[in-house]
Amino acid sequence: MTLAPAEADRITGDLTALAEYADPGLPGWSRRALGEPYRESRPWVERLMREAGLEVSRDAAGNLRGRLPGRRPGAGALVTGSHTDSVVGGGRFDGVVGVLGAIEAVRVLRESGVRLEHDLVVVDFYGEETNDYGFGCLGSRAATEGLEAELLDRVDDDGVPLHARLTAHDIDPAGLLAPAWRPGEVAAFVELHVEQGPQLAEQGVPVGVVTAVTGIERLVATFHGRRDHAGTRAMTDRRDAMVAAARAVLAIQRVGCEAPVHGVATTTHLDNPNPSPNVVAAEVTMASELRSVDEVWLSGARRQIAEQVVAEAQAGGVDVELDWTTDNAVVRTDEVVQGAVSAVLDEAGVPWVAMPSGATHDAVHVARVAPAGMIFIPSRNGGVSHSPDELSDPADIALGVDTLAATLRRLDREVGR
Ligand code: HGY
Ligand code: MN
Ligand code: MN
Repeated sequence: MTLAPAEADRITGDLTALAEYADPGLPGWSRRALGEPYRESRPWVERLMREAGLEVSRDAAGNLRGRLPGRRPGAGALVTGSHTDSVVGGGRFDGVVGVLGAIEAVRVLRESGVRLEHDLVVVDFYGEETNDYGFGCLGSRAATEGLEAELLDRVDDDGVPLHARLTAHDIDPAGLLAPAWRPGEVAAFVELHVEQGPQLAEQGVPVGVVTAVTGIERLVATFHGRRDHAGTRAMTDRRDAMVAAARAVLAIQRVGCEAPVHGVATTTHLDNPNPSPNVVAAEVTMASELRSVDEVWLSGARRQIAEQVVAEAQAGGVDVELDWTTDNAVVRTDEVVQGAVSAVLDEAGVPWVAMPSGATHDAVHVARVAPAGMIFIPSRNGGVSHSPDELSDPADIALGVDTLAATLRRLDREVGR
């Protein structure tokens, strides 16, 4: 029995409807976790899940879970899903394709008369994007590992602690500390996602089978110089924190450019709390991140940057504090899941390519508790993402859904025997 094809028009209609839940005060299709448009969009996603025949619940981490009972309950669930929150100024496809595509895959399986052995669970993970508290994957991290208590006390730029904003969004902060998902609850996980890069489109290949998801090292550096009158202090006699920070930005960029394999280094934020043009900067804070699927390069680059930033700052009489955090370690996807995806593509005669992911995903956290893999579809418009110009074609999305549905069906036969 072959599966009914995914309906591109139906998926496009869902994508268009969800895109309506965007913050009118922000660019693009902004739907930030812990924000109003996101809060209002969740009942819409719940309704779509129900209309597709899923039993909907919300776990302690705020994740929406739609369940299609299998013939063999208790065998662990096949899980698929992604996120529907966005960055500020984000697009309409990042994460969304993996949630709405999973719901379409459920429709495809039901319309084909296929009833899986395993329960099938579609998840809309809460808050995948880096939030106002400096970390991402809130729902998948909480569900599979639990959050560190200190995260709940972090405050946003308005001084509001995370626990207060969670409570205001009907999420009990205490429920995030212990993993909401039990070991063995998930038999396998597959996430459909847009590539968010140019490779598939440039190579003319319609599907990517993800081999690894990038590790992320985050740096907050604080430079301490000396306040001076900008008009009277000689250039040779300054301890200028802004100059030290600027040199650090370029050092980080150099290290990223020298990466031998997939490796990137980005600084996005410099802050001088006293930006008066006539006062030499005494304190500057810088936020940067390193990413790579090569653990060795990642740890080496972190050391190299620390050495260069400190040396250049000290040469200018500036002290610097470096605060590193690991947002997530490199995760290799599961061989069985990868094999199932590539097998269904080979059977269908669909070209595919194995590739790493430079973006992180909820799959990184689900991989803690279950065999996890990812399916990529092309990002058009030069692969731009985290931008209103993000674009994927309906036909590409439909093929991604067909691949997901066929992979779930194959995993149903292969896992948890
Ligand atoms: O940061 C990322 O890679 C993802 O978009 N949250
Ligand atoms: Mn994203
Ligand atoms: Mn995403």
